[in-house]
Amino acid sequence: MTLQVNKPRVEYFTNPIGIDAERPRFSWILASDAADQRQSAWQIRVASDPASLPDGTADLWDSGKVTSRDTAGIHYGGPLTGSGERVWWTVRVWNQDDEASDWIEPQYWETGLLDPLEWHAKWVMAPRLAPDAGIPETEELDGLLPAAYFRHTFNVEKPVRQARLYATCRGVYEPHLNGERLGDQVFAPGWTDYFRRIQYQTYDVTANIQQGTNAIGGIAGTGWFAGYVGWHKQCRMYGQSPQLLMQLHVDYEDGTRDIIVSDRDWQSTTGPIRYSDFQMGEYYDARREIPGWNTAGFDASSWGGVETAGLGYLPMYADSSEPVRAMESFAAVARTEPEPGTFVFDIGQNIAGWATLRAKGPAGTTITLRFAEILNPDGTIYTENLRDARVTDTFVLAGTGEEEVFTPRFTFHGFRYVEITGYPGTPDLDAVTATFVGSDTTPSGRFTCSDDLVNKLQQNIVYGQRGNFLSVPTDCPQRDERLGWLGDAQVFVGTASYNMDVAAFFTKWSRDMSDAQSPAGAYSNVAPRAVDSRDSAPAWADCGVIVPWTMWKKYGDTGIIEQQWDSMERWMAYWLKWNPNLLWQNKRGNDYGDWLSIGADTDKELIGTAYAAYDAKLMAQMAAATGREDRATWYRDLHSRIAQAFCDAYVSDDGLVKGDTQTSYCVALHFGLVPENMREKLADRLVADVRAKGTHLSTGFVGVSYLCHVLSATGHSDVAYELLHQETYPSWKYSILHGATTIWERWDGWTEHKGFQTPTMNSFNHYSLGSVGEWLFRSVAGIGQAEDSAGFVTIRIEPRFDDSLGFVEASYDSIRGPIATRWERAGGEIRLKVEIPANGDAEIVLPTGVELVGSGTHEFVIPV
Ligand code: BGC
Repeated sequence: MTLQVNKPRVEYFTNPIGIDAERPRFSWILASDAADQRQSAWQIRVASDPASLPDGTADLWDSGKVTSRDTAGIHYGGPLTGSGERVWWTVRVWNQDDEASDWIEPQYWETGLLDPLEWHAKWVMAPRLAPDAGIPETEELDGLLPAAYFRHTFNVEKPVRQARLYATCRGVYEPHLNGERLGDQVFAPGWTDYFRRIQYQTYDVTANIQQGTNAIGGIAGTGWFAGYVGWHKQCRMYGQSPQLLMQLHVDYEDGTRDIIVSDRDWQSTTGPIRYSDFQMGEYYDARREIPGWNTAGFDASSWGGVETAGLGYLPMYADSSEPVRAMESFAAVARTEPEPGTFVFDIGQNIAGWATLRAKGPAGTTITLRFAEILNPDGTIYTENLRDARVTDTFVLAGTGEEEVFTPRFTFHGFRYVEITGYPGTPDLDAVTATFVGSDTTPSGRFTCSDDLVNKLQQNIVYGQRGNFLSVPTDCPQRDERLGWLGDAQVFVGTASYNMDVAAFFTKWSRDMSDAQSPAGAYSNVAPRAVDSRDSAPAWADCGVIVPWTMWKKYGDTGIIEQQWDSMERWMAYWLKWNPNLLWQNKRGNDYGDWLSIGADTDKELIGTAYAAYDAKLMAQMAAATGREDRATWYRDLHSRIAQAFCDAYVSDDGLVKGDTQTSYCVALHFGLVPENMREKLADRLVADVRAKGTHLSTGFVGVSYLCHVLSATGHSDVAYELLHQETYPSWKYSILHGATTIWERWDGWTEHKGFQTPTMNSFNHYSLGSVGEWLFRSVAGIGQAEDSAGFVTIRIEPRFDDSLGFVEASYDSIRGPIATRWERAGGEIRLKVEIPANGDAEIVLPTGVELVGSGTHEFVIPV
């Protein structure tokens, strides 16, 4: 067998259920034990019965043999399937010698509810849900509502063929059926602009249905819908209280169907969760637990009814990205008692998530958990930087005589330290464990090298990403903010897509960006739009173009271009309308500039103009990739006109860019705004500035994401390496040497000379300054793609060797399969080993020249 088809996926998932793409896209990767293998053709068969695959009649679609090397983005070409239909598919491929692979085992996808008219369920709410008067903080913070419990019973009296639950919430929910919690999602249905779009989840509950009486229900919390979101104690942004919506389809063997929907027959109550809010925390009174509430035999006579609301015209969308899940757990590594009765647990890593507490004591014992990223010098927790987020959980023991365990449901915190007070006795070290909670995107990149601090940097970048990719890409997980900031996301998206497979995640969030776009066409600062601020800030608004472009480049996905095209065009038209002379002088909104740079303010009009030119360049490429030739030409022309305006306004003949900051050179060079013959002059000035600062960077969010790329691209990788290894402030290693386990928001979040930065804005888990991760993969490990390639069709291996590292080893699971490099210094030479996946073509760029290779393992020896 020469080629083997692996990782077959539909719309980025293996055997997904409940999708609503009309013509879902297939992808696979190829493996082979022979070198130099290429796919020359593929064939897909789709059938309603897996037994008829691969060789029987594919009743839905047989593509025939299609000559193509594509392995992703291949659209289903058969008749549209109906709602809730499962269809099966298989694929085989041919190699360059026309040898066919085996067909793969039949795979499937299943559609969700495609037609709005198929939704019969109603939103159910607990009537008069009000803050718990017995809890003091609910007086002060009126958004703190008890979680609502809902239930309903129904009968099943015939053999069941299959059952599906379609469910969602305005709030966050946990679905239950016959005594069991369904699925492992956390904070479903995720965050969208609930006024515009609701995501629903689909659960295969065939095995949960029982003959006779069944109990269905769920617990709903306020979440983003009605809880605290953003700053200034803003809550109830979309509605007053959580609302659950469930529709269960029970299909019987005899071909009939029962549909059970949430409606006015349902019952509701409240239970142990007296409130649970993302920012404020959870109050759990175990004395109020309701054992068996989700089972059929439960006596719910004391429960109240529900209020209902119709669906209206609200668009329902199938959840199409990875769910948020509770993932890795952390044992506490240390416990201290800085004040009598106050215990501080260190879990060794700054994370987003929650803590589980074990305790045994009398009924009514009230234990308080507070959370922090960092400690004060006296060992107490530092919480000033949390601003108005209370970040406090309370656990009231039921007094069962046994050990009781508390894990919150609808809150999360950004923390490394957990402070416990009110504990009965002295807690053991294992009384507290912590759990990471975030969007469960699949890791795709691994990077390690001979320098432990660089490895730590990579680890911190990954933790920063994991802690901040929670349904949407957020700025930080701890303070009263946690918003989908566009600027942060766009500077980091390149790095993010090396670390994890973020195709589905950013496809979803790109929709959120369009939802947040102003009617006039301006992209907002945050998506979903959640705080009031003036739109269209340079480097923030441009995210609307940069993120879809990055997804297309990384995953070869033209679908996201189609999805976002109109929105992106509206943005470009808006920009041009307000800036007809091609300098971004008007409508710069909140105009953050090179946010958090160090003593080097870059001219804001200059940054904006550079981004506008960049947008135009990316639009031209995306237009060309989707066959919009006239738009491609138009945007190419726009790019050169803006670039010309940029040069005329800000660049002198001697290579001086206005303001003479590192960032001004970075944007001019990285966005290709100056003529080829000027590049060296600009690069020299950039290097001179770095040197003048004692080989330190001065860049903020914007400049830092281009700095090392630009240095490498202009022949100054040595300087980039020196910045990477710089240990004194400001630098990446500085924070690591001072205990960072994630990327800090600010270079000077804490310094020896000044201590903590202002608590009004000082997060220790903000990924933006970690955007150097892309350079680690692309230039240190050398894993990238050719300039004009998308989806790693032409892999480009271009490691920038440097004396400071003895070896570098990295791999990246590209959409075309795993690419790996390892280089090592041995004696007077460097040995480079490269692995290219089957069907891959690669340019290996060495100091001695460029070599073209196909799939397989390749080794090179480079004298140094
Ligand atoms: C956020 C950012 C964001 C910025 C806008 C901050 O409060 O945390 O990361 O991009 O505001 O400048």
